[in-house]
Amino acid sequence: MPTNESTLLRDTAERAVRYRAALPSAHVTPLASPATLRAALGGPMPEYPQDGAAVVQRLADSVEAGGLMAMGSGRFFGFVIGGALPEALAADWLVSTWDQNTGLFAPSPGTAVVEEVAGQWIIEMLGLPDTSSFAFVTGGQMANTTALAAARHHMLATVGWDVEADGLTGAPPLRLVVGDEVHVTVPRAARLLGLGARAMQRVAVDANGAMRPDALRDVLAVAPGQPTIVCCQAGNVNTGALDPVGELADVAHAHGAWLHVDGAIGLWTAARRPSGLSGLERADSWSTDAHKWLNVPYDCGITICRHTAAHRAAMTVTAAYLVQAAPGTDRDPVDWNPEFSRRARAVPVYAALATLGRTGVVELVDRCCAHARLFAERLSAEPHIAVLNDVVLNQVLVRFTAPDGSASDGDARTRAVIAAVQQDGTCWLGGSVWRGQAVMRISVSNHATTVADVERSVEAIVRCARRLA
Ligand SMILES: Cc1ncc(COP(=O)(O)O)c(C=O)c1O
Repeated sequence: MPTNESTLLRDTAERAVRYRAALPSAHVTPLASPATLRAALGGPMPEYPQDGAAVVQRLADSVEAGGLMAMGSGRFFGFVIGGALPEALAADWLVSTWDQNTGLFAPSPGTAVVEEVAGQWIIEMLGLPDTSSFAFVTGGQMANTTALAAARHHMLATVGWDVEADGLTGAPPLRLVVGDEVHVTVPRAARLLGLGARAMQRVAVDANGAMRPDALRDVLAVAPGQPTIVCCQAGNVNTGALDPVGELADVAHAHGAWLHVDGAIGLWTAARRPSGLSGLERADSWSTDAHKWLNVPYDCGITICRHTAAHRAAMTVTAAYLVQAAPGTDRDPVDWNPEFSRRARAVPVYAALATLGRTGVVELVDRCCAHARLFAERLSAEPHIAVLNDVVLNQVLVRFTAPDGSASDGDARTRAVIAAVQQDGTCWLGGSVWRGQAVMRISVSNHATTVADVERSVEAIVRCARRLA
């Protein structure tokens, strides 16, 4: 039976509105078993066409019956996952509705211009060099990979090697230097770019996990003159620590190295005035995620690069059948992105930035940081609960010890509390390991989180911990 398109789209929009409206009171943890989900969704691939409206309804009913984590809830504190601002979500619906392939300017000038404007707004808001190039990619992983590809091009070009043309076989050695607390996506980028994860050199960090400039100086002094990329970070995935970017830029540049800042989490703090990320603008490239703290729906990461020629050389592609802009005229995203065909993922970013304004971005970031501090204050006031990190951003690391005072079973106890909280469903948070100790990891990244959500979550965590006593 042919699907009535308007009815299907209206019904689906209404379902989406109901889903969002239920989030504030939702049980955060998924309740359905994998077997239930497979039974509801699986079976043989249909041989013949089905009723489309019924397909969408059954699909949504099956997934929504306990198969979703309420990641958009104000009481979801797992990983580093933002919610979706309503305006960004609405704009994201338009992206799918318009269904534009935004690899080139000419076929989709409207979305290409949205991307131009959103990229320029971000550069301006974060106080980065206004001639920088940018790319809207799928997330922090690809943002780091794209920036490091530009860095690889630039650093090898300084010693007369064209890596895009000649590859890495026989190339002069290129060194990648990272902090001890580097995020796993950087070694993965090193693997993809042929730099080798094991070949990365590591720099010591301070007690909260931020890279130490003196230690970087020592590492770089070992092979002066070798083409080198240094990768630091704004926002440690465990502690939230922000590396001293300006100082690191000075050390890196004194050695002729390229400094990349992985700011997947913390780059948005540069919207503050003053930014608190002193000297950020002196780096060579930056990456961040809009689907984290800017609260746009998945997926969207951003690469920004001071060296536009290197960025373009690492990414550009041409073909006779493409409709490409003449140099210096319109901006073809395909020149800056690793993807070829792509979604117009800057559209929700535009909506978020235009709705919030710079001060709204700062308020969002500050509010989440204040919630993180409230978590830390409340939890550390409880007996047998300790906060292990200096809460400088939106991340809190919590450790649970036994009421009899023995610290020896802290790992087991911490993991048991995390499991109990996840089971309880009032809120959701995950675990990690910090300095060899198991920790509960709380990340406040959602615009929807309120003080009441924090208080209710603290109460649930404490209740679960006491129950295990
Ligand atoms: C510091 C850092 N870099 C990169 C990433 C990867 O980002 P994505 O998951 O968007 O690829 C993360 C994810 O948490 C991160 O915390």
